[in-house]
Amino acid sequence: MPDTHGYIFADEHDRSAERFRALSELYDASTTGYIERLGLARGCACLEIGAGGGSIARWLAALVSPGRVVATDRDMPAFDVSGLANLELLGHDIAVESLPAATFDFVHARLVLMHLPEPELAVSRMVRALRPGGRVLLEEFDVPPLTSEAAWDGGATTLRTSVAFRAAMERSGVDMQCGRRLPGMMRAHRVVSIGGQGRMSLWTGHSAGAHLMRSNYVGLKERMIDDGLILAADFDADLARLDDPEFVAVSPTMWSVWGRLP
Ligand SMILES: C[S@@+](CC[C@H](N)C(=O)[O-])C[C@H]1O[C@@H](n2cnc3c(N)ncnc32)[C@H](O)[C@@H]1O
Repeated sequence: MPDTHGYIFADEHDRSAERFRALSELYDASTTGYIERLGLARGCACLEIGAGGGSIARWLAALVSPGRVVATDRDMPAFDVSGLANLELLGHDIAVESLPAATFDFVHARLVLMHLPEPELAVSRMVRALRPGGRVLLEEFDVPPLTSEAAWDGGATTLRTSVAFRAAMERSGVDMQCGRRLPGMMRAHRVVSIGGQGRMSLWTGHSAGAHLMRSNYVGLKERMIDDGLILAADFDADLARLDDPEFVAVSPTMWSVWGRLP
């Protein structure tokens, strides 16, 4: 039965720092590049939903200062905001709580919607929070169904644990193909001038991609083994490969989709 009560990694405070560090290393350069191209002016009011480790919220606060940035997360965000008087932290659950209407010039969320039972509702809340002409950038993974140990031309491997992890996420109600649904969800809420880009990379052993895989897999280890999705010995062997410099995996596709209100 899908677990729709909350974020699948909610209880993993010890591993979330590693996850946020890896996500920042993997994706901040492209996220900030997309935001720069949207042409936000100084003084803009911005909203960062599900801010995680806060790297994008801090970058935005410096970009639009003295404009204000509100960074939310389902628990009160706890990252360092020193030196950024225009950055406000807010405990806010986008799945159930509304946002002030027509207040922001820009809203961004990365890897949040895939975890929500009703992502369309969250998109409608985010878009309603925008002023006329406001911009939105939504970024989500797309992981097509996987086949274990499928070797790709360059030698990239799909670990058995990757297959098990995808299945465990889906069983828990996470939408592993959320990325491809972003344009439709945005269009349904009056967003126009929609554009987007999907990005894949090779994740080698001991890289930020391998660190992300490790923190995610370790987080769901018991669940995957208890549900018979992976044997403990196979799990341990796969995790060891994440430290092997010869190891190569293909990343999920990260879809970054932008648009604006009329
Ligand atoms: C995979 S992390 C991504 C963090 C950050 N956006 C990034 O890309 O580095 C997902 C984040 O969404 C937050 N989150 C999950 N469900 C949420 C909800 N219902 N409302 C607000 N934030 C939520 C989590 O607490 C976590 O910080």
